[in-house]
Amino acid sequence: MANVAVIGAQWGDEGKGKVVDWLASRADIVVRFQGGHNAGHTLVVGNQTYKLSLLPSGLVRGKLGIIGNGVVIDPEALLSEIARVGAQGLAVTPATLRIADAAPLILPLHAALDRAREAARGERRIGTTGRGIGPAYEDKVARRAIRVADLAEPATLSDKLDELLLHHNTLLAGLGAATFDRRELLQRLLALAPQVLPFAEPVWERLDEARRAGRRILFEGAQAVMLDVDHGTYPFVTSSNTVAATAASGSGIGPAAVGFVLGIAKAYCTRVGAGPFPTELTDATGTLLGDRGLEFGTVTGRRRRCGWFDAALVRQAVKVGGIQGLALTKLDVLDGLPELKIGVGYRLDGALLRRLPASPQAQAAAEPVYETLPGWPDSTRGARSWADLPAPAVKYVRRIEELVEAPVTLLSTSPERDDTILMRDPFEG
Ligand code: GDP
Ligand code: IMO
Ligand code: MG
Repeated sequence: MANVAVIGAQWGDEGKGKVVDWLASRADIVVRFQGGHNAGHTLVVGNQTYKLSLLPSGLVRGKLGIIGNGVVIDPEALLSEIARVGAQGLAVTPATLRIADAAPLILPLHAALDRAREAARGERRIGTTGRGIGPAYEDKVARRAIRVADLAEPATLSDKLDELLLHHNTLLAGLGAATFDRRELLQRLLALAPQVLPFAEPVWERLDEARRAGRRILFEGAQAVMLDVDHGTYPFVTSSNTVAATAASGSGIGPAAVGFVLGIAKAYCTRVGAGPFPTELTDATGTLLGDRGLEFGTVTGRRRRCGWFDAALVRQAVKVGGIQGLALTKLDVLDGLPELKIGVGYRLDGALLRRLPASPQAQAAAEPVYETLPGWPDSTRGARSWADLPAPAVKYVRRIEELVEAPVTLLSTSPERDDTILMRDPFEG
């Protein structure tokens, strides 16, 4: 029985939360391994809608949730999310959630620096979520981060804050932003410590035990391959590796334990924030997709940019992300469109490319090359079996499989948990 890693195959918001929630019924443990509260995963369960940013989606199914060392944790955001879902009737306790003691913390100064830098970039801004994700990962790599385990050692916290502030206050002052006071920050952290520490442990040990006992582990990715700091549309990316390989290093388990890699892609394409988007539609069809797909950022509230399915982009994500099967979501949003286009490559300087070029200038200049397929007048919304799908929808899905060079193993036809068609159980490997 394989474990499963779920990762986004476009620019995020593909419906990872819904798919992880659905698959979690077959898993024992759900693990977040990268990103932070920049993620926004929406789960619709009957008349309840859960919007999770940091908490693993499996908690909603009563499964053990683990936040791995690869995640950057804003302790205040974590506690307020626990309180928010608690008010919805979902109790999150140290018995249901474990947090890696080695995970770096996001502090208020990280969000301040994130926003100050974006403001200074002006027109050239990345369009970050402003939550301090980038600066927190920078501190981790620079070896000056404060980590969860440090909260248990108040005696050394003050010195650690000194080192951190030497760096950050210099930058913040240079950007004309307010600086931070060590004593205030220390008080804030000391007050948070007793609330956070009961969740903390070396999660690698628990994962090792679970693996040896044959428990099923579901790794929940955040963001997506095209936002990966190495493989995405750099510099318009997030600051973590979002590919499935990170499930291992971001949780403390060997790569062989990651199991089947399920990529999630929308049946069209969206992007929040700035950066190249070759198949973007700025016309009425783009607006229609946005309206019907309710394409508003879970975290930012910003309207998502919409466009046609880009098979060249997803094929690239399949290759670099190690995707073995694709879950195609939001097929229902395409209902009623007379014809559909699929991006199959790019034209650049007279040449035909089957992949995105690496430089942002070339990515922005790449013209999409399309293939046109017939749409379907019927509704696919809520379809729960392959036989319920109209023939042109089946043809559309089959063509996507050929172009991206991966089988579609799961289809989603509404935000609802059970409106899902399973072609191949990823836990069967
Ligand atoms: P994530 O970040 O990948 O978890 O995705 P988000 O939750 O940010 O965005 C996906 C949105 O699409 C959510 O509002 C989901 O409820 C919704 N959704 C997921 N699957 C489907 C589907 O098959 N059809 C429709 N219409 N909506 C869906
Ligand atoms: P989920 O998990 C979509 C985007 C931001 C910005 C870029 C960098 O819900 O799919 P950051 O704050 O991470 O430094 O911003 O990445 N971004 C996302 N876009 N879905 C997400 O998460 C995202 N997380 C970050 O909009 O363009
Ligand atoms: Mg999202």
